[in-house]
Amino acid sequence: MTHQELVEIARQAREHAHAPYSNFKVGAALECADGRVISGCNVENSSYGLSMCAERVAIFKAISEGIHEFKQIAVIADTRTPVRPCGACRQVISDLFPKETAVIMANLHGDIEVIPIQALLPAPFDPSFF
Ligand code: THU
Repeated sequence: MTHQELVEIARQAREHAHAPYSNFKVGAALECADGRVISGCNVENSSYGLSMCAERVAIFKAISEGIHEFKQIAVIADTRTPVRPCGACRQVISDLFPKETAVIMANLHGDIEVIPIQALLPAPFDPSFF
C-alpha cells in the first residue's frame, strides 16, 4: 500500500475524532502484515487526562483483534507541517513495531513526511531489558 493510500484512510478516520475539548482532530491508519488496515481517531474525555491519541486507538484496536505484526502507520491532522506523534505514541509504536517501521506523517494540505520509528524515538524504554 502506498503512503498516500494509507494517509487517505487516516484522513477519513480523522472525521470520526471526538475532540470537543481541544478541537484538534487526529486520524491514524495502520497497515498490518496480513494486509488488513485498522484505523483510529483521537477520543477525548471531559476528564481530560483520560483522552486517547488516534495512533494508540488504532494500535490497540489491532492488538485486540489478534493482529501483532505491522508494516507501517500513518497519522494526519490539520497542521501547518506534517503532524508528529506524541512521545507516548512513539513509545507504543517502538515497543510493538519493527525498528525500521515507517511512520508516515501528514497534514490536510497534502504534505507527507516519512521517518522510521527508530529515528523518531532513538532511545526507547526497551521491554527486552527485563
Ligand atoms: N493527539 C493524537 O491523537 N495524537 C498525537 O500523537 C498527539 C495528540 C490528540 C490528543 C488530544 O485529543 C489532541 O490530539 C490534542 O492534544
